[in-house]
Amino acid sequence: MGFFSKLFGKKQEVTQQQDGGKEMLKIGIILGSTREGRVSPQVGEWVKGIADKRGDASYEIIDIAEFKLPLLGEPGGDASGVAAWSQRVAGCDGFVFIVSEYNHSISGALKNALDFLREEWNNKAAGIVSYGSVGGARAAEHLRGILGELLVADVRVHPALSLFTDFENGNVLKPADVQTQSVNDMLDQVISWSTALKTIR
Ligand SMILES: Cc1cc2nc3c(=O)[nH]c(=O)nc-3n(C[C@H](O)[C@H](O)[C@H](O)COP(=O)(O)O)c2cc1C
Repeated sequence: MGFFSKLFGKKQEVTQQQDGGKEMLKIGIILGSTREGRVSPQVGEWVKGIADKRGDASYEIIDIAEFKLPLLGEPGGDASGVAAWSQRVAGCDGFVFIVSEYNHSISGALKNALDFLREEWNNKAAGIVSYGSVGGARAAEHLRGILGELLVADVRVHPALSLFTDFENGNVLKPADVQTQSVNDMLDQVISWSTALKTIR
């Protein structure tokens, strides 16, 4: 094995395992909107950038738009993406929901995607990063109620981005410095609860 393959081989090992040879937690960062021109990918990438620096889990973006889910139970709907959606969620130990506020709640697309699955969510932890005119607070609180029914333990720290002060023109993410600390505090709680809940699954 050459110098570089040794180096890269080692890196691969580090990304998949934590100290003591335990498998790393997998945390899905779920983009909660699907409309054309949405800002959720910007928010998700920003959270992933902060998360990846921590080295405490494997973080991946899960974009609900990718699965093209029909409305749940809709006759004639194309449900070909449901199995992949189920698999992606089942493979995670915890989640960060990227939540936009639509009429004081979460988007219909996120609610529909949540409704499709049940056991895949159960006994896992989640954090919420929301955005809106008042930080998406009303949507985040609605999501907490839904997560309770799905047996997802949502953590207390909740980074809430203002469309007025954390975005330029309401659509270009320019978060205040304080938000990075808030994301890290939220992730601390998601990691500790995801670790704990893994023991009862
Ligand atoms: C149908 C709709 C309803 C909205 N309702 C609210 C609202 O009640 N409160 C709020 O703060 N923002 C509201 N907004 C603004 C969105 O939060 C903002 O456009 C945000 O960027 C949407 O997320 P997205 O870009 O990821 O789709 C609404 C936007 C849409 C499209």
